[in-house]
Amino acid sequence: MAYQNILVETRGHVGLVTLHRPQALNALNETLIGELNEALAGFESNPQIGCTVITGSEKAFAAGADVKEMAGKSYIESYLGRFLDGWTRISETRKPVIAAVSGFCLGGGLELAMMCDFIIASDTARFALPEITLGIMPGAGGTQRLPRFIGKAKAMDLILTGRMMDATEAERCGLVARIVTPETLLDEALSAAAKVASYSQPIVMMAKETVNRAQETSLSEGARFERRLFLSMFATEDQKEGMKAFIEKRKPEFLNR
Ligand code: CAA
Repeated sequence: MAYQNILVETRGHVGLVTLHRPQALNALNETLIGELNEALAGFESNPQIGCTVITGSEKAFAAGADVKEMAGKSYIESYLGRFLDGWTRISETRKPVIAAVSGFCLGGGLELAMMCDFIIASDTARFALPEITLGIMPGAGGTQRLPRFIGKAKAMDLILTGRMMDATEAERCGLVARIVTPETLLDEALSAAAKVASYSQPIVMMAKETVNRAQETSLSEGARFERRLFLSMFATEDQKEGMKAFIEKRKPEFLNR
């Protein structure tokens, strides 16, 4: 499948999507989001793929939604055209997605990164929700995900001032899982993804779903959900294989069932 705005490849059991609009610092236009959804759907339905990495260039993961595409929109056109609806599908993937971020990760770029399951950043990464400077506010989940991830005070600081935060601050406040050098970013992300992909796919998917439940429900409901899924794992062959392999001191061979 030939795409205009992304590069798509596989590395073993890992899917790799590289955002590729260098002339616009990977600004996310509707075509790119459609292509990204298509690529992710392809990996979702490919039993050989257990995890995906989304990355950008060294200068920019993505500098936001495409301002030039948005600038002339009317309310009625964006409402009837369901503007930004397509973005939500990215957060609905069941297989894990890792964001490998270098350079600018702004506005919709940060919103996209937050839809991934975790962010590995290079020390050059810069994060912001600068929509306020354009006379708007974040519209692809930023006002909801950022306070859940880093707390209200810092989220308000970033959303109301539009300031940029560096990788160290982003890691300190819990937005970023790890910081690496720009040279090792892709290898680190691919190797984390390969590790995830080496485990039982249904178990990984259930673990992802359960952690995400923590963002949306009370502690007691979340713990109940966790217990239900945990107990259901004893109905899988992979639970039997994983534990048997441990006892027999060998590597497990998961069958994804
Ligand atoms: N949309 C469209 N084009 C963009 C863009 C964006 N978000 N960000 C950068 N570009 C384009 C620039 O217009 C420029 O194109 P031209 O060469 O044709 O002029 C090209 O990319 C290179 O950018 P700069 O010359 O500006 O590069 P720089 O290194 O001087 O500055 C930057 C980099 C600080 C990231 C700056 O480009 C910038 O501030 N970009 C906009 C960031 C922003 O406001 N993002 C939020 C968008 S709104 C949003 O995301 C809404 C939402 O919630 C869904």
